[in-house]
Amino acid sequence: MKSDFSEAIKFTGENAFKRSCEYALKQLEILNTGKGKGNDFLGWINLPQSYDTEDITDIITISETFRNLDAVVIIGIGGSYLGAKAVIEALKPHFYKTEPEIIFAGHNLNGNYHSELIEYLHDKQFGIVVISKSGTTTEPAVAFRLLYNEMKKRFDKETIKKRIIAITDAEKGALRQLADKEGFTDFIIADNVGGRFSVLSPVGLIPIAVAGFDIDEFLRGASIAQDICLELSQENPAIKYAAIRNLLYASGHKVELMVNYNMRLNYFTEWWKQLYGESEGKENKGIFPASVSFTTDLHSLGQYIQQGERQIFETVIFVNDTSDAPIIPADEENLDKLNYIAGKDMEFVNRKAFEGTLMAHVDGQVPNILFEIDNLDEYNLGFMMYFFEIACGISGYMLGVNPFDQPGVEDYKKNMFKLLGK
Ligand code: PA5
Repeated sequence: MKSDFSEAIKFTGENAFKRSCEYALKQLEILNTGKGKGNDFLGWINLPQSYDTEDITDIITISETFRNLDAVVIIGIGGSYLGAKAVIEALKPHFYKTEPEIIFAGHNLNGNYHSELIEYLHDKQFGIVVISKSGTTTEPAVAFRLLYNEMKKRFDKETIKKRIIAITDAEKGALRQLADKEGFTDFIIADNVGGRFSVLSPVGLIPIAVAGFDIDEFLRGASIAQDICLELSQENPAIKYAAIRNLLYASGHKVELMVNYNMRLNYFTEWWKQLYGESEGKENKGIFPASVSFTTDLHSLGQYIQQGERQIFETVIFVNDTSDAPIIPADEENLDKLNYIAGKDMEFVNRKAFEGTLMAHVDGQVPNILFEIDNLDEYNLGFMMYFFEIACGISGYMLGVNPFDQPGVEDYKKNMFKLLGK
């Protein structure tokens, strides 16, 4: 992954950036030595390098038993589904399903979504991967009850046992009790790995492997990122990213827009939004993480970004892959006046749109942070996910908050339970 911070540093100045990097380095040291806030939730830092081959073989073997099903429903919400969804959406072709088809559920409480899902599954051989660290979250618990009930109507006990994988806490929670009682295959989410930092644990690896993608490569990318991002060096890109975004925040840039030019990354940005929003948005502080997909959203939010309130900075991920881009054909009549780009591939045009937008937005006082990868594959996704996780830990410490808790999420639940008469 290439990174370029120059289009942001021009807004903050080199000296301030250097000082911010020095502060970021101190925070990385605190993070990596476990001396900071939330230090009982740091198990994710070493995940890519703490697996042995047997753990991975176990995950692959179990996942393969699901590969001949028509569909597998991944039940989970927040950190228990977004990482896997991000990777699968980034890797799967736009207009084909994976085999088995991967469907997500339990990430909302919409009645129509779940009734249509039950209807869709009624003639399919399906399995369930149910993921909940607490084992008590309402959305996945309700979805699991519904789909488990459907399974019980159609399959015998032995078949059901083979069709359900539960990923949850080692001891606590209703899902743990159910998994033990019913004998489901289960994987443990370690106590010290929070949901939004769990994509490199079985929470992400099992769904990604079931979808047929290469988790060895995914972990290899993350492991290389671990070596680079834990280095106490001003050249470390995670240090630079944490340093520049905190500096921009301090100068009034309160909104960070994650920009992609490739729709396959739309769920990657959803994952990133949760990671940063839930980690930093507390104590009345924190950059608001938002996202856009260009050039689509240049025709909706582009106006605001160019000329609206000056509180935005952008972090762009550009995928430099032209391998399957169609060539724009020449046309004798040229009525659409496109012959000036005939013979170019479509990604060439996309790239020029990116370069033109970058110039325009920077001119419009929107600082830009740039990341480029050569292609969207398991390796690069693993690399980027680890990179953004470490940078998030550093950045949260720079802001002075505990990046590993989420006390604010409980408030809606308390009210909802009261209203439901729990
Ligand atoms: O990042 C987090 O901690 C949250 O998003 C949780 O993952 C989410 O609330 C789901 O929780 P659980 O896995 O306990 O069902």
